Amino acid sequence: MSSGKLHHNGRSFAESSSGIVGGTRGKTIPLDGMPLMRLVIKNGTVVTAEKTFGADVLVEGETIKEIRPGIAAGSADKVLDAAGMLLLPGGIDAHTHLDMPFGGTTSSDDFETGTRAAAMGGTTSIVDFAIQGRGTRMRDAFDTWRKKAEGKACIDYGLHMIITDLGGAGLEDMDEMVREGVASFKLFMAYPNVLMVDDATIFRALKQTAKNGALVCMHAENGSVIDVIVQQALAEGKTAPVYHALTRPTVAEAEAVHRAIALAEIAGAPVYIVHLSSEDALNQVREARDRGVAAFAETCPQYLLLSIDELKRPGFEGAKYVFTPPLREKENLPKLWDGLKDDNLQVVSTDHCPFCFEDQKKLGINDFTKIPNGGPGIENRLQLLHHHGVNAGKITLNRFVEIVSTAPARIFGIYPKKGTLAPGSDADIVVWDPRAEHVISAKTHHMRVDYSMFEGFKVVGNAREVFSRGELIVDNGKFLGKPGRGSYLKRAARGGAWA
Ligand code: URP
Ligand code: ZN
Ligand code: ZN
Repeated sequence: MSSGKLHHNGRSFAESSSGIVGGTRGKTIPLDGMPLMRLVIKNGTVVTAEKTFGADVLVEGETIKEIRPGIAAGSADKVLDAAGMLLLPGGIDAHTHLDMPFGGTTSSDDFETGTRAAAMGGTTSIVDFAIQGRGTRMRDAFDTWRKKAEGKACIDYGLHMIITDLGGAGLEDMDEMVREGVASFKLFMAYPNVLMVDDATIFRALKQTAKNGALVCMHAENGSVIDVIVQQALAEGKTAPVYHALTRPTVAEAEAVHRAIALAEIAGAPVYIVHLSSEDALNQVREARDRGVAAFAETCPQYLLLSIDELKRPGFEGAKYVFTPPLREKENLPKLWDGLKDDNLQVVSTDHCPFCFEDQKKLGINDFTKIPNGGPGIENRLQLLHHHGVNAGKITLNRFVEIVSTAPARIFGIYPKKGTLAPGSDADIVVWDPRAEHVISAKTHHMRVDYSMFEGFKVVGNAREVFSRGELIVDNGKFLGKPGRGSYLKRAARGGAWA
């Protein structure tokens, strides 16, 4: 058995799964009479949010059957040697925007290209955002986003619903969405006239989640105040990308985080702050959590690793880093790492929302407000967090697993099906080579976008094989999964934020 090679115990998968060759002793025989394919991953080091231990993993069909040292390879259809490798639960990216109309264009990755890129980097589930159009039913948006994913998603996916309007049947729609497995709603305190809703709408949504057990995710920035600052900047002829950041002060984020948490407290519901970017905002979350308030927050690799300096790049290159909230002064970065270590930040998602530089970002060449907001990153989250977090000694390996997989699974209602390695869980397994060297580059990445925010970053640690529900979908840099194989994840309400 050589490292990294899948062995078929002397027979083809087709033969063994049809039961022609190989006994069925010890195998689970489902109702259709076909024995389930058995895979044994030997000699790996299993890493969960709680512990790290040497063990073999037996997968039967789509599910993990057993984890312990010394599982016999004899009765398996396939055997994979994972000596020297870490076995991680598949990454869960709880914040992506695939095929999303925004800023006068559409994000450049669809559910096929985006989920393929995610898998290449060790992410096996995403939660994307459907957008309710104003004056329309949430059901319409749900159906639209399911169609976007159908036949395309290469990994499992869930949906949040972005609420733009709670008039008419809005509250009933929220309950209906929860029954459909949409156990979380995003509301915007920013983007006036586009996505922003008022405090009354936010409060009504929060109160409804107090009844139906869903979770409100908040884009927390004071959009009205920012708009005044933006108009002033434009009037002064300040049109370059850097003004995107300079017109969105951290206090405008902190004020909105404070307000979101206060509204949630009054409503008696938890709240989850998305893409938190600054120390000022983090202080608000910490203060609330110290008082025992159910406030949760995520940050993203870009806020941990990049600063406002990127927006000052010459030749309009700064537009590549225009997303919201913006990149901050570099003093914020270590504070966010501390937040992850101290559990004031629970999750790292990507907010993957790619727009090509040449034909999309350049829509704002004369006016930073016309640059489509968003950046790519779905492929690189685990690599970046492992290298700059674990290898740099900022977080432990177990905390890394918790941040990229276990916590999002719990908070968004898919644990323990997803987010851990345990008997009964989906066999979403990343065989992680902690010594693999990789240089991140748009020349080699799989995202459908013409630049990387992390161009030239050298990382140590990468996915070698990726299994999604027992199926090998990435093998040493080769994508093997088929578009459309990803399933819709019906998520449960009253997830971890309610515990
Ligand atoms: O700039 C961003 N973040 N674009 C995606 C939409 C959002 O606010 O998450
Ligand atoms: Zn947002
Ligand atoms: Zn987003």
